[in-house]
Amino acid sequence: MKKVIVTGGTGFIGSHTVVELLQRGYDVVVADDLSNSKASVIDRIAEITGEKPILEIIDLSDRTACLRFFKMHSDADAVIHFAAAKAVGESVLHPLHYYRNNLDSLLYVLEGMEKAGCRKLVYSSSCTVYGQPEHLPVTEDTPRQPATCPYANTKRVSEDILADVVHGYEAGKQKGTLEADYKPWKILALRYFNPIGAHPSALIGELPNGVPNNLMPYITQTAAGLRPCLQVFGDDYDTPDGTPIRDYIHVCDLADAHVAAMEYMDKGGFEGMDYFNLGAGHGYSVLEVIQSFERSTGQKLNYKIAGRREGDIEQIWADASKANRLLGWKAKRSLDEMTLSAWKWQESLSKTI
Ligand code: WQD
Repeated sequence: MKKVIVTGGTGFIGSHTVVELLQRGYDVVVADDLSNSKASVIDRIAEITGEKPILEIIDLSDRTACLRFFKMHSDADAVIHFAAAKAVGESVLHPLHYYRNNLDSLLYVLEGMEKAGCRKLVYSSSCTVYGQPEHLPVTEDTPRQPATCPYANTKRVSEDILADVVHGYEAGKQKGTLEADYKPWKILALRYFNPIGAHPSALIGELPNGVPNNLMPYITQTAAGLRPCLQVFGDDYDTPDGTPIRDYIHVCDLADAHVAAMEYMDKGGFEGMDYFNLGAGHGYSVLEVIQSFERSTGQKLNYKIAGRREGDIEQIWADASKANRLLGWKAKRSLDEMTLSAWKWQESLSKTI
């Protein structure tokens, strides 16, 4: 059984990926500081899969703790590094926290992996690296643009750090300075588009802290009566209905992609670094998401058109054909499945987690 370290494994995408890994026979160790999640998620994962992953409560931006953790789990085959702070607005207010938390932890994870001789990494990157692209859909070769907020910048800089690590390895190999049994670095940066939805069991899902920033949890909380009204941020964009367009992807499809990425890194011939867009390959407007929610759940949503949100881009969606070609992965679940599963999760939240 291959052992995989999943950092941030109690978070939204992390927990769904842990479920998928356990169901595919991987042995999972979760490292999480629980700063934006709950330890009880581990019990929910166990309820779904019948397997309880180990949880190590650890702040990976604490170098000593992080290196100790990797020493303890030096038999791990691979790492999936989700752990990071991810709120755009918060990152503008607290840039130093974001740089320290997201970048220090990456450096220490890489150092821990280097020392443990475990050099297979799946990294959570983001479509924010593309900014507002000139041509749609975006491929992995679409030029990256300067980040619009510290959060997005941590993703961009992280990709650069990873590329440098791989470059250092390749240079060492060329110069013949590596030990004979040095395992090659294999790194995949997965650029997520807009993950929404929840596991069909409604036992795990997104647990936003306080007032949600993102569209889907705001919709479900409004329908549940926790918020009075959803504000649609702008209907004067150059899109068919005037509202911005995003590529929404079901979190379970995203979880599947991580297993496909793990399998890909095990295929003969792959070493170094590669990038994959993980989106459904369709763009939906804010109003289309609202219509899908109302259709799939039968709930009427209270919403009104408001002004644009600062920093929002107009439209983006992915060309995910590279992931299909090389990873054999494709997003399968529809927008209605996404909105319905998000609603079922919201309904289940009245039961305590
Ligand atoms: C979607 C659309 C809003 C809330 C997110 C992350 C970002 C990156 C990509 C990972 C936009 C509109 C929203 C509301 C609204 N992910 N909206 N009313 O901005 O695309 O970015 O996914 O790295 O980090 O933040 O997602 O869900 O906030 O917004 O009208 O109350 O919904 O204007 O058009 P976004 P989002």
